[in-house]
Amino acid sequence: MNDPLDIISGSTELLDRIAPLWEQQRDYHASVNATWARTMRAITFPKRRDELVSSVRSPADFRVHIALVDGVDVGYAISIVPPNNAGVIESLFVREDLRGRRIGERLLHAAIAWLRDERKTSKITLSVLIGNDAALRFYERHGFAARTTQMQLLDG
Ligand SMILES: CC(C)(COP(=O)(O)OP(=O)(O)OC[C@H]1O[C@@H](n2cnc3c(N)ncnc32)[C@H](O)[C@@H]1OP(=O)(O)O)[C@@H](O)C(=O)NCCC(=O)NCCS
Repeated sequence: MNDPLDIISGSTELLDRIAPLWEQQRDYHASVNATWARTMRAITFPKRRDELVSSVRSPADFRVHIALVDGVDVGYAISIVPPNNAGVIESLFVREDLRGRRIGERLLHAAIAWLRDERKTSKITLSVLIGNDAALRFYERHGFAARTTQMQLLDG
C-alpha cells in the first residue's frame, strides 16, 4: 500500500470526530446479525458516547486512535481501562473501501501497545458480534482466542 497513513491518538475529546465512522460500524454490525439488528440500529452515537465515557474513571483511562489516509479519517480504535485494570478494546473499524491494507492491523497494534505497554493492563479483551466471522479470523490471526460466548436476554 502506498497511501500515506497516519495514526493519531487522544482521549474522549476525539470521540465526536469518529461519529460518522462509528455509524458505519453500527450499520455493518446490524447487517451481519439479524437477531440484534433492530436493537443495534436504535443506538445513537450520543448514547454510545455517554456509555463509553462513563465506563472509565477519568479520560486518562480512555484512548482513541484514528487512522488517516491523505489526511482523511478512515478508521479508529477505542481502548479503555476500566476500574478493574483489565484492558478492553471496545471498537475497531476501517472504512469498507480501504480494508485489507493493514490499516486495521496498525490500529490494533496501537491499541495493544497503549493497553499493554503503557497502561500495563492485566489482560486485553474484546467482543466480536456473532456473525462477524471476518473479524473473528482477523483477531485470531493477531493472537486472540475466543474464550466465552456472551448471551443477552432478548427482551431484557
Ligand atoms: C476488522 C477490520 C477492522 C480489519 O481492518 P483491515 O484494515 O481490513 O485489516 P487488515 O488489512 O490489517 O487485515 C485484515 C484482513 O482483511 C482481509 N481482507 C482483505 N481485503 C479485505 C476487504 N476488502 N474487506 C475485508 N477484509 C479484507 C484479509 O483477509 C486480511 O487478512 P490477512 O491478514 O490474511 O491478509 C475491518 O475489516 C473492519 O472494519 N471490519 C468491519 C468492522 C468490524 O468487524 N470491526 C471489528 C469488530 S468490533
